[in-house]
Amino acid sequence: MTSLPNHIAIIMDGNGRWAKARRLPRTAGHKKGVEATKKIVTHAGEIGLPYLTLYAFSTENWARPVDEINDLMALLRFYLKSETAELLKNNVRLRVIGRRDRLSKDIIDMIENIEEKSKDNTGLNLSICLDYGGREEILNAVNTAIKNGHAVTEEAFSQYLYTFDIPDPDLLIRTSGEYRISNFLLWQCTYSELYFSDILWPDFTADEFDNAIQSYNQRERRFGGIDKKESKA
Ligand code: FPP
Repeated sequence: MTSLPNHIAIIMDGNGRWAKARRLPRTAGHKKGVEATKKIVTHAGEIGLPYLTLYAFSTENWARPVDEINDLMALLRFYLKSETAELLKNNVRLRVIGRRDRLSKDIIDMIENIEEKSKDNTGLNLSICLDYGGREEILNAVNTAIKNGHAVTEEAFSQYLYTFDIPDPDLLIRTSGEYRISNFLLWQCTYSELYFSDILWPDFTADEFDNAIQSYNQRERRFGGIDKKESKA
């Protein structure tokens, strides 16, 4: 019997290579990536996963060509506009994690609207990381703690992170055959199990998501301690 992780985080990578392999513009890969995202969000809700966190746009992604950034923002607008009703119907609580000050006003308004409307939902906790960087998040938390005059303990510090009300990921999935963390949830993934898939994000399916969960079930999580059986011997 498979047990579900509490929280799965995903680095959705490979949209550009998916498009390149088909001689299509990179945007076509991102569009197909949104389709894969929708399927995984639906599947995660259906299997009863409590928390799903998706890396959609990093603090480093601003270095991409302006046309690609505009296309990604347009896709995000489209996603938020077209999916809000479905997410609310499916009892999903949506949070958007990361800096807000560099996003367009209309996107911020859409985010605030769906966060407010979904705040009492009790199904899947879906977090979309947007203009998110792990280092930026940590520095922001440190500076807020200093400003508030708080001693920085692990617990107090965690309360200053964007993820203050979200548990740490149990499982981190990265697609596209890349083996990096890429500034994603640096503090929170300390003891996450890692799963790397060669599949490019636009081709990622619910079955591959379930394979990652199966693999997670084979892992023995020791959190720096020793095997429970050994400690009794
Ligand atoms: C990585 O592919 C993917 C991104 C930078 C963006 C991820 C965005 C989506 C899946 C679509 C938007 C999501 C939502 C929730 C609306 P890449 O471009 O780095 O691919 P490459 O490494 O093959 O070039």
